[in-house]
Amino acid sequence: MLDFLGDLKRTHMCGVLRAADAGKRAVLMGWVNRRRDHGNLLFIDLRDRTGVTQVVFNTDRDRVVHAKAETLRNEYVIAAIGTVKLRDANTINPNMPTGEVELAADELRILNESKLPPFLPSDTALTNEETRLKYRYIDLRRDVMQFNIETRHKVAKAIRDYLSAQGFFEIETPFMTRSTPEGARDYLVPSRVQPGTFYALPQSPQMFKQILMISGFDKYFQIVRCFRDEDLRADRQPEFTQIDLEMTYPQPESVWAVVEGFLTAAFAAAGYEIKTPFPRMDYDEAIRLYGIDKPDLRLPPFTDVRECFSAENLQELAINPNLPVIAIRIPKVGELSRKERDDIKPLFHSKGGARVYEDFKRIANKYPAAAEAISKKAGAEPGDLIVLVAGSTEKSSAQSGPQSAVSPHRKVTPQELAIYNSAGLLRLALAQKYAERHQCFQRGDFRFLWVTNFPMFEWDEHEKQWMAAHHPFTSPHEQDMKLLEEGVEALHDPLSPLGAVRALAYDVVLNGTELGSGSIRIHRQDVQRRIFRALGMSEEEAKARFGFFLEALEYGTPPHGGIALGLDRIVMILAGAESLREVIPFPKTARAVDLMVDAPTPVSEAQLRELGVAVKK
Ligand code: AMO
Repeated sequence: MLDFLGDLKRTHMCGVLRAADAGKRAVLMGWVNRRRDHGNLLFIDLRDRTGVTQVVFNTDRDRVVHAKAETLRNEYVIAAIGTVKLRDANTINPNMPTGEVELAADELRILNESKLPPFLPSDTALTNEETRLKYRYIDLRRDVMQFNIETRHKVAKAIRDYLSAQGFFEIETPFMTRSTPEGARDYLVPSRVQPGTFYALPQSPQMFKQILMISGFDKYFQIVRCFRDEDLRADRQPEFTQIDLEMTYPQPESVWAVVEGFLTAAFAAAGYEIKTPFPRMDYDEAIRLYGIDKPDLRLPPFTDVRECFSAENLQELAINPNLPVIAIRIPKVGELSRKERDDIKPLFHSKGGARVYEDFKRIANKYPAAAEAISKKAGAEPGDLIVLVAGSTEKSSAQSGPQSAVSPHRKVTPQELAIYNSAGLLRLALAQKYAERHQCFQRGDFRFLWVTNFPMFEWDEHEKQWMAAHHPFTSPHEQDMKLLEEGVEALHDPLSPLGAVRALAYDVVLNGTELGSGSIRIHRQDVQRRIFRALGMSEEEAKARFGFFLEALEYGTPPHGGIALGLDRIVMILAGAESLREVIPFPKTARAVDLMVDAPTPVSEAQLRELGVAVKK
């Protein structure tokens, strides 16, 4: 028999009672987290979002209440009414904030029962993720998930408060809109009223926030859901949340200062102090030092050790002397066994022409002088792992085809990029594999970085044309306008000067994760048209896709710029979680399925008919 709540009021949450409360009457309400039956003493750990208090039912105190308490099972919802007591010295639990007290209950109301859940919030071992997601409401009761969602709330609130105080207005933009060019596929919503037409869910509010600048709002922000139909990974969800902002007349530095300000507030809300300003690095430098545009600064950068070898050495090792020879150093890995050395090879994925020399010991035996110079140049200590990545002299894809010619316009040639990228990925794979040995990945160690001066365009070998590296509203550097002009005359040429045009774009990176991207935008219609042309978009096509936007640019558009950061990623790193699913209350699987509500689902014929949609099987 269940009891009614009646007019009973909760007096305390389950995580708050302390020794100083001894003697007080208390009414606690919550879930039965655990139950221990010691005959005439029955202990219930009562749980709510603030924590757990031990409740004791004693036959000496009240037989009837004790008997009722014996019917309690895990996850029943109860109200326990009684007196706060100090625990005996030998039963104090120093691991629990409420561990010095217990509630001696003299009344119990059973407010609801629970079926035996497929797993318990109090289980120490995690059940499989599918079950967790299907029974998400049970999973969310776990203290780790409660902590993650609380952190998410605090972080979002700190950011909202900070930006509001800086004069930003939070302004909503539509979810039912047109396609935005962020490079993923759109989720589409069919229109019933106009059959055959579709809204797109926004991949970001990019065009709206720019329009808000044209509309005179000066500083905008939004903590906003975005939708992207793309291949999912641990740090990607089909719907995710951006901290999106835009401002007028900014220098890149003014945007960075705002971001550094709200991140400081957000990390403080989660209990961490961070240092600003964040260091800055050119895109080209990031590639040369880390082989990737989102360097993890917790590990040492690369060293180019080409000059440590003699010309003969390089020849014998079949290393291309015209390309960098990268030494990857992972600290404190210690001596590797033969098998461990063999395990390095499968971690290496050559991006055309790059080769790995995983056995540094062998190189040291054969070329002791070179090895010594390499160790010195890379700053290696005894026990550090060194692996070399270099261009092979053997013929490979990187040395054939149109990319083999060296563009006079690019600082890093495609062949060099292939070496850097391959080494960059290997560096991360090694760092992951030996994380326990090098111990560079410590909780609370936050290494932020601004990566700047990205290239404006990327050559798409498949489409044989240039694509926007960020999005097509990003402004090129004012100094690179001439290259842009020359470049549009050579649209389908991988050696076009377009490759050298730098964007006024920047990313904020934390411990190897891209937290956010932004740019100074194009505010002049002539420049915007030129960019569309460079991207191989005809006037008609540009007009059909973004006509409203091009028109808006003609009505007095002020210079403006902004950025968007992934809230989910920030919280994931703060929570020390491995996946966004740990910090999103109701996430989707890697196949974009919500296992709890079972979405997506087919819909009825009648619904489809009304929408004028036919499904091909
Ligand atoms: P961008 O596409 O780089 O830029 O996105 C900005 C940030 O949003 C987060 N993010 C994601 N998080 C989870 N799952 C995803 N699928 C996902 N995709 C992106 C990342 C990323 O850094 N309109 C521009 C911003 C601007 O120029 O102002 C934009 O959306 O943390």
